Order: sequence, then C-alpha cells, then structure tokens
Amino acid sequence: MQSKIEKLKSGMLADLKTAKSEQAIKDVEVKYFGKKGLFGDIMKSLKDLSVEEKQTVGKSANMAKKELEEAVMKRYDEIEHEKLSAIAEEEWIDVTVPGKKPQIGHRHLISRFIDDLEQIFAKMGFELAEGPEVETEEYNFDHLNIPETHPARDMQDTFWIKNLEKYVLRTHTSPVQVHYMQKNDPPIRVIAPGKTFRKDSDATHSPMFHQLEGLMVDTDVSMANLKAVMTHALQQIFEDSTIKTRFRVSYFPFVEPGMEVDCTCPICQGNGKLPDGVPCRLCKQCGWLEIAGAGMVHPHVLKNAGYDPEKYTGFAFGMGLERMVMIKYRINHMRLFFENDLRFIEQF
Ligand code: PHE
Repeated sequence: MQSKIEKLKSGMLADLKTAKSEQAIKDVEVKYFGKKGLFGDIMKSLKDLSVEEKQTVGKSANMAKKELEEAVMKRYDEIEHEKLSAIAEEEWIDVTVPGKKPQIGHRHLISRFIDDLEQIFAKMGFELAEGPEVETEEYNFDHLNIPETHPARDMQDTFWIKNLEKYVLRTHTSPVQVHYMQKNDPPIRVIAPGKTFRKDSDATHSPMFHQLEGLMVDTDVSMANLKAVMTHALQQIFEDSTIKTRFRVSYFPFVEPGMEVDCTCPICQGNGKLPDGVPCRLCKQCGWLEIAGAGMVHPHVLKNAGYDPEKYTGFAFGMGLERMVMIKYRINHMRLFFENDLRFIEQF
C-alpha cells in the first residue's frame, strides 16, 4: 500500500512537471484528486485494511495528498511566473533610448518677416489692413489716379483675369489704401502686407512677390512724419540704428510729391566697401540701396476715398519684401523663396 502511495506521488509529480499550462495542471488535478481519480482509489481501498494499517496508511496518504496539493500550487505559481516573464520578454521597452523627435515645420521666412514688420509698425501705432488679391481695375488703377489713358498703366506688366473683364491680379498693395480710407475716417495709420503680381521673372523678380503698403492720414501729416517712420522702420528691420535714409524725387501717380526711398547699405554701412577694402557688391559700391516708393497721398486719391483734401494730408509708401529679406539674410536668388527646397528653408 505504501509503495502504491509512493508511486502515485511520483507519478503525479512527474505529470505536474510536464504540465505546461493552467489547464494541464487542472487535468492532472482531476486525474489524481477527481471523483474518479487515482487518489480516490487508494482511499477506497483503505477500507479493506486492518484498523492499525488504516491509521498508518491513512496518515501517509493524507501527508502525500498535502504534499501534492502544495506541489500543485507551486506549479500554478511557476506557470504564472513563466507567463509574465514571456510577456516581459516580448513587450519590454528600453526607456533610456532617446525618443524620436517629431518633425515640426516652421513658418516661411517671408511670413516671419511679415510678422516682424507688423510688430515694428504696431509699436508706431500702425494697424493691419487687408484687401483682395484679385482686384478690380478701378481700385488697382483708377482710384489711384491712374486713368485708362494714363501711360502709368504701362508701367506695370499686369496679369488680367481671363473671362473676368476689368479684374486684375493686383500689381501692388496700394489699392488697399483706398479700400481702407473708404471704410474708415481719419486719423488713420495702417500697414497692408500681402501678395502682389507682375509679369516679371529673373534673379530679383518673381511673378508673385510681396509688398508692404504703409498709409498715414491726419490733419497735418507731413514729409517729416514720412521720413521719421521710414527711418525708424528701416533701422528696426535691419537691426542697425546707424541706418540713414534719403528721399529722391520720383513719380507715382497716386502721390505728390513722389519719391524713392533709399537707405544706407546695411552690408557696407554706406561705405561702398567692406572693412577689408573689398568693394560692396550689394550696393554696387554706391553705399545706398533703393528700398521703397513713397510720397504724400495725392489729393485726387484722398478725394476718391471720400476724404476732404483741403482738410487732410497723408503719406504712403510701398516696399518689396523679398528684396528686403534678400538683403537682410544675404539671399542671392529670388526663386529660393518659392522652390520649397528644405535645404534652403531649414536655414531660417
Ligand atoms: N505702389 C508702388 C509700387 O508698387 C509703390 C508706392 C506705394 C509708391 C505708395 C508710392 C506710395 O511701385
């Protein structure tokens, strides 16, 4: 009888050892401890033994059962442990590996430059104004004192809109002056940055480019105000307080008098040559750069906008932004702005 118990014990331990899952352990439990299990057989056969034998055999049978139950629990623990370490092995992560940096883009150089200009002019009290990029001939030309027969219409090579007579892609931001004045009463101080279009394409011209228009109208705005605003703005833009400006007489139909605004070359500080004596190529050694068109708003334009030209005066200016960005960041070809080549864009 004793040997039967021993055999059963070693048989069950062996079975447990090969049980590789919870279910397999359960099957072993049933095989030995179940209603019709092998252990039951032993217990049943006890009844045929003498009282004495019953005691000893019964005792060792119980001890064996207890031992085996513990072995079962242990096997359950082992299986659980194996399961967890398999998961750990499969799903582990190395938290010390450096993370993948998400690729984050940024605003285009021109857009950022416009933001900077808005800041600079905001500090001088200029608000933002906007107008359409597809403009009527009336606003692009007529209201700006450029009548149909006027030779100035030939000054700008214009994109006309097919099947939409009398509409153009605006050739400058100046029409925003009129839109804004028609909707607002003086005093006004606005800038209007935006896209403009002309049939032009080379190293320094692109068919689409950006301008920033400036307009200030009040009861006694003078050239002195224009000069102060332009000079301060250019010093801020090029981050150089030594920059000087000069105004040369020029002609734009919507201003009187009209002028070109030049500033001292920010590369050679107006010397025409660099500190080491090398001639400055940007300003072609003249020390000045043409930077904007400007003038005192023509009385006709004030009138077209509904202002009394006897009562109000104002100045306006318009500057090409690509040109300024090219100067500021030493960029040598216009197409770099619009090709979207990341090797260029990521430099800024
Ligand atoms: N609109 C002019 C141009 O595009 C620039 C300008 C604006 C000139 C305002 C005078 C006053 O060339």
